Amino acid sequence: MIRDILKMGDPRLLRVAKPVVDIADPELAAIVADMYETMHAANGVGLAAPQIGVDLRLMIFGFDRNPRYPDEQPVPVTTLFNPWLEVLSKETEEGWEGCLSVPGMRGLVPRATHIRYGGTLDDGSPFSCEARGFHARVFQHEFDHLDGVLYPQRIRDMTKFGFIEALFPDSGIVLLEAK
Ligand code: NI
Repeated sequence: MIRDILKMGDPRLLRVAKPVVDIADPELAAIVADMYETMHAANGVGLAAPQIGVDLRLMIFGFDRNPRYPDEQPVPVTTLFNPWLEVLSKETEEGWEGCLSVPGMRGLVPRATHIRYGGTLDDGSPFSCEARGFHARVFQHEFDHLDGVLYPQRIRDMTKFGFIEALFPDSGIVLLEAK
């Protein structure tokens, strides 16, 4: 079932989400299925449970090709419960981000360039890997959602925050987020 995605301004997006206790709970499987359906319907590259109003440390992300980020390399499709993040680089890199909770907009956001992350997979097994570039950016963006942080809060230069149609007038992304 496609769920409504909460928009910036909704206080439920600002909560520190609660840990998932029982990963085998069948209700969780239904939530994850809804999250994938919702993310794909919106052409998202990631979605965190708080974005559909579920107050749990659960995120999904990944894509082969994505029309909202046509220039980015694929990111493996991953479902993570209780994820963790370790920053491996001192450097950060600025990159354009959007968010399904901030429709129609993009901002230039600094993120660590090299991270290790992990969590528990839906079969209950532990997972960890290293990531760089857009893969690392997507993880950090979704991880922030679990702590009640939206990307505009991380923008350093607010002149680099705006509507897609104004920032990138010739891109096809505008139409995708018009709905
Ligand atoms: Ni987001």
